Parts: sequence; structure tokens; C-alpha cells
Amino acid sequence: MRIDVFSAKPHDLEFLRAAATDKALELQFHEARLNADTSRLAEGAEVVCAFVNDDLARETIAKLQEFGVTLIALRSAGFNHVDLRAAHAAGIAVARVPAYSPYAVAEHTLALILALNRKTHRAFNRVREGNFALDGLMGFDMHGKVAGIVGTGLIGTVLARILCGLGCEVLASDPYPSVECKALGVRYVEMEQLLGRADIITLQCPLTPETHHLIDDAAIARMKPGVMLVNTSRGAVVDTKAVIRGLKSGQIGALGLDVYEEEGDLFFEDLSNSYIPDDVFARLLTFPNVLITGHQGFFTREALRAIAETTIANITQFQRTGAPMHPVKLPE
Ligand code: NAI
Repeated sequence: MRIDVFSAKPHDLEFLRAAATDKALELQFHEARLNADTSRLAEGAEVVCAFVNDDLARETIAKLQEFGVTLIALRSAGFNHVDLRAAHAAGIAVARVPAYSPYAVAEHTLALILALNRKTHRAFNRVREGNFALDGLMGFDMHGKVAGIVGTGLIGTVLARILCGLGCEVLASDPYPSVECKALGVRYVEMEQLLGRADIITLQCPLTPETHHLIDDAAIARMKPGVMLVNTSRGAVVDTKAVIRGLKSGQIGALGLDVYEEEGDLFFEDLSNSYIPDDVFARLLTFPNVLITGHQGFFTREALRAIAETTIANITQFQRTGAPMHPVKLPE
């Protein structure tokens, strides 16, 4: 069975090759991102294996159907970049990796929160230049602060446990409250109340039509002045231009991002010898109280091993039974 892996980086080769012990699985790696134009590389493949910034819109899916692809195996939990209706109509199954390491993303979220709070990103540069002045580096005790988690699924629950451990009062908003969070003492409140009370707001919900630009001008206006906002879920949960307005007015005191709504043209590529073509993103980089990482929340050894193993398990089960282990179903 031929499997074409798109957006393949050296770590994908390493971990997928290690997981694909069955000689019947023939892996072909493409550095290219999958879209309608590059889909022709998959001619003759039964499976395409895609990542978060591959474009699986209707046009790409029509091409994949033409080339005989029967399974899209995502190496991600999120599936907002796939036109599920088009895939269903084309008879192409879609599989994902629902859980690999919630610790990886929750711990990265904590890294952003603590770095922004104690200004570690600024201190690093200062000390290297022999500047040991402390002006502008003052932080706050995490203990006793109110943290608001939007979305307490796998990642949000691990983060709740960590923040409770730091002595934060944790509020949460989720249509499906977690039993474990409740047992930890997390209090579920309406979004309005979470926005108004939290000193730190973190977004751990999926990108859906309901959560698209969940954080907009109106939501920012309801937040506590000087709030810290962190997004490690999906970029478009936040309206970036509204957030820039919030940073300029001081309503947002610190911003941590691991994801960005237009990240497809930037992230995972080395643009250091070129320039940043996105002016909104470039504006974000001018704020001293903004810390951005390039979608690396998932990037731990344990997570990559689990992603590769589940991806191969999805494919082998599909080969055996016609259905992957973790199918993405059409929303009702
Ligand atoms: P999950 O499916 O376990 O949890 C998501 C939670 O969000 C669910 O409890 C759901 O009820 C809740 N939710 C849905 N709509 C909501 C809304 N409008 N308001 C509040 N809560 C809402 O997903 P998991 O594994 O915790 O991942 C969350 C998201 O994190 C993924 O969808 C993905 O977009 C992102 N992610 C980011 C990674 C990174 O590298 N930065 C890596 C993996 C996931």
C-alpha cells in the first residue's frame, strides 16, 4: 500500500519509518505542502498523510479522488483544514490522531505563560548584552491569580492540573465540563464571567464555526485590563487585528501565541534569509510583551512517536477492515 506523506520534515521521516514496521507499507515523502496543485504527486497512492497546514479543501479532495486516494490520514488532532463533506462525497475516509500527548501542548502553554510573566524572553537578550538592569522585567506571583481555560478537553484538563498545582484559581468554559477538572476544584462559568475575572486566559478549544474569532474586539473589551492571553489551539480562534488593537490600548498586557490564523504561509519554514510577507504578523513582532512560537506545542519526542504510531495504526486498520482506527465523522 502506497502512502504519500506531505509537508514531510526530517522528524516525520524518522518517526514514521520507525513506526511502519510492516514491509507492505510503502512510504513516499514529499516536502511540499498538499494543495490542489501538489496533489498530483499523490497519483498512484492509496493514502495521503497530511499535517496541519496542508490544504484539504474541496478542490484538493476532487483531485485526490481522481488519483485513486481512499484515505486521508491526518498527523494531527485538529481537522479544521479538511472539507469533510467533500471527502465523504468523494468516498475518501479521513482519520486523525485524537490524542498523542496532551502534556506536550499543556506544558508548552505553561512555558509561554511563565516566560511572558517573568519576561524571560527579554531577560535572555539583556543578559547576553551585559545589561543586568531589571526595569521592565517585573512579573507577578502565579499563586492566587485567576486563570481562565477555554476548552477543558484533553489538553485543557492537563493544563488545569498544572495551574491548580501553581496555586491559581482556575475558571473554565466548556459546553462539556470535565469530571476531572471539577474534582480538581475548577469552576465552570459562562464565557462572559471567565473573560471578566481571569488574569490569564488560555485557549484550548478546537477551531469550529462557533469558535472562529471567539476572541474579537467585544470579547477583549470584557477582559480585565492588562490581561494575559495565550493561544495554543488554532490561530483563527483569535481575531489577530482585534488583538493588536488590544495590545496598543494596553487592554491586553501580554500575548502568547503558538498558532496564527495565517500561519500556513510562515510556520515550519525558514524565512530568515528572506522577509516576513505578512504585515499583521510583522506588527505583532514589534511588541515587547508578545511571545510567539511557530506551532511547536506538539513538538516533543513522546508526541511525535505517538503521532507516528497512531497514524500507522489508522492506516493498517483501514487496510484490513476498510475503516481507520480513529475516523473523523461528518458533523450531524
Ligand atoms: P479535545 O477535543 O480533547 O478538547 C477540546 C475541548 O474544547 C472539548 O472539551 C470541547 O467541548 C471544548 N469546546 C468546544 N467548543 C468550545 C467552545 N465554544 N467554548 C469552550 N470550549 C469548547 O481537544 P484537545 O486534544 O484538548 O485539543 C484542543 C485543541 O488544541 C485542538 O483542537 C487543536 O486545535 C489544538 N492543538 C494544538 C496543538 C499545538 O501544537 N499547538 C497540538 C494539538 C492540538
